[in-house]
Amino acid sequence: MSGCLITVEGIEGVGKTTNINWICECLARLGIPYCQSREPGGTPLAEEIRQLLLTPRDEQMSDMTELLLVFAARAQHLHQLIRPALARGEWVVCDRFTDATFAYQGGGRGLDMSLIATLESLVQQALRPDLTLILDIEPALGLARAHQRGAPDRFEQEAVSFFSRVRQTYLARAQAAPERYLIVDAGRSLNDVQAQISSGLEQFCQRRAAGAQTSEAHPHGA
Ligand code: TMP
Repeated sequence: MSGCLITVEGIEGVGKTTNINWICECLARLGIPYCQSREPGGTPLAEEIRQLLLTPRDEQMSDMTELLLVFAARAQHLHQLIRPALARGEWVVCDRFTDATFAYQGGGRGLDMSLIATLESLVQQALRPDLTLILDIEPALGLARAHQRGAPDRFEQEAVSFFSRVRQTYLARAQAAPERYLIVDAGRSLNDVQAQISSGLEQFCQRRAAGAQTSEAHPHGA
């Protein structure tokens, strides 16, 4: 059985860390081998690129520089960690992936979506996440939570309107391909959010098992 890429997305302050830990607990309970990673980052070199992206500085980073750095980090992450893990049959639970690029660089910064799609194909070839959880929350609420964590990074310094565009892009992408996305209402209680996630994961595992059986029954796609 080949591995599986699960990505988790959402604006700042939505509770990704807590919920990713919960996803990993669910996978462990199901006996699924997994590893956990994040973007930008996930390898020593990609983590250095993350620092370039997140650190506020006097020189303004151009939107194109930002976009190319995000994909440079991703190319390294894919090469060093994601593809080898998938080849070993592991599931990779990744805190953000290319949906974040469409949402932040496309929706937030206003870069051309088709340019992002071109880079996606160049860097990833056919690889796309098998399941993407979008933790959804009101931007003002998420930002208020994020700002309680300490000094804002380069993205957290953006206005609420930036995060509203990011959020709308995530939701639009989920609407356009509902089979790949699970939208989680992250404004609810932790228990409720965890219940939404575990039931979404169970349904995903069932669909995957059914798909595997179908391809065993019809190995040549007949
Ligand atoms: P976080 O993972 O701690 O939330 O911070 C990563 C930041 O990087 C977050 O503000 C979103 C941003 N980002 C992009 O702008 N584009 C991307 O493709 C990715 C993966 C992250």
